[in-house]
Amino acid sequence: MRAALIRSFDGPESVEIADVVEPAVGPDSVLIEVAATSVNPVDWKILHGGMQAAIPHHLPMTPGWDVAGTVAAVGPAIRDLQIGDRVAAYARKDHVRDGTFAERVAVPERSWALVPDEVDLEVAACLPLAGMTADMLLDAAAVGEGDTVLVHAAAGGVGSFAVQLAALRGATVVGTASERNHDYLRDLGATPVTYGEGLVDHVREVAPDGVDAVVDLVGGAALEATPQVLRDGGRVASVIDPSVADRFGGTYVFVRPDRARLTRLLQLVAEGRLKVEIAERYPLEQAREAFLASKAGHVRGKVVVTRD
Ligand SMILES: NC(=O)c1ccc[n+]([C@@H]2O[C@H](COP(=O)([O-])OP(=O)(O)OC[C@H]3O[C@@H](n4cnc5c(N)ncnc54)[C@H](OP(=O)(O)O)[C@@H]3O)[C@@H](O)[C@H]2O)c1
Repeated sequence: MRAALIRSFDGPESVEIADVVEPAVGPDSVLIEVAATSVNPVDWKILHGGMQAAIPHHLPMTPGWDVAGTVAAVGPAIRDLQIGDRVAAYARKDHVRDGTFAERVAVPERSWALVPDEVDLEVAACLPLAGMTADMLLDAAAVGEGDTVLVHAAAGGVGSFAVQLAALRGATVVGTASERNHDYLRDLGATPVTYGEGLVDHVREVAPDGVDAVVDLVGGAALEATPQVLRDGGRVASVIDPSVADRFGGTYVFVRPDRARLTRLLQLVAEGRLKVEIAERYPLEQAREAFLASKAGHVRGKVVVTRD
C-alpha cells in the first residue's frame, strides 16, 4: 500500500510517498481503510524527531495520529464493529512507526469511535486529536456555566474547538488571534483579541476583572501573562508547558484516546452544534505540502489529507 514515509528526521521536506507493507491486525486491533486524516502540529514535530523523549520513534516511519475511514478487518477479540463500519480514531500508539498518512492503518481497540451517518469522514478526521484536546483542557480548567475563559491561539485546530465547546458549556469566551481571524472568532462565539505586544491590556479591556480560566496552546509569553490576566483563584491549563503546574498551580494536558469523549464530540458535529473548519485539503500524494502548511503556523481550523 501507499504511505507517506520518512527515512531520516529531516522534517516535512523529507516526506516521500512510498510502497510499504500492509499493517498486521493484532487480536485487539482494527484495520481502517483510510478516507481522510488531518494534520496536527505534532506530526511535523515528529518528522523532526521531536517527540523522541516521550515516545520511541522508528525509521522508516509513517507519521499521523488522526484518521477516519471504514473498517476493513477486525482482530478476533474486537466486539461491536463490523466490516464497513465508519469510524474515526485518535490512533496514537506506544511507538511511532506506522501512522495514519497511509492507505490503511491498524489502530488499537482503545482508539476508535463510530462516526454518525450525518458526519462526513473528512470532517470526522479533524476531530480526534484536536477536539479531544480542547475538551480535556476545558475539563482541566474546570470551565463551566458563567465563566469567562481566555483561549490562546483560538483560530487554530484545538482553539477552534475549545472556543465552541466552552461556549456550549455556557462560558463567555475571549480568544487570541491575528486580526485576519477576528471575524472567524466572532462567528465561533468568541470575543477576539490580538496576541503579542499589549496582550494583557487587550484582555483586560474585554475582561476588566480578569478571566476565570486560561486555556494555553502557545506557551512562552502567552503563558507568562497568566498572572496578569487571571482573576484570583482562576484556573489555567496548558498543552505546551508542564511547568504550568509548579509556576501557576495549573494543569498540563497530554491528550489520550477516549472513546466516550470522541463519540460525544462526533455527536455534537452530527447535531450541527460543533463546526469543523477545513482550511485546506491535500491528496495523500501531497502529504509533504500538508505538513508544510501546518508548520507555517497560521492554519485556520484544520488541514485535511484525503486518500484520493
Ligand atoms: N499536549 C497535547 O496533547 C497537545 C495536543 C494538541 C495540540 N498540542 C499543541 O498545541 C499547539 C496548538 O495546536 P493546534 O493544532 O491548535 O495548532 P494549529 O492549528 O497549527 O494552530 C494554528 C493557529 O495558531 C495561531 N497562532 C500562531 N501563533 C500564535 C500566537 N503567538 N498566539 C496566538 N495564536 C497564535 C494562528 O492564528 P493566526 O493565524 O491568527 O496567527 C493559527 O490559527 C501546538 O503546539 C500543538 O503541538 C498539544
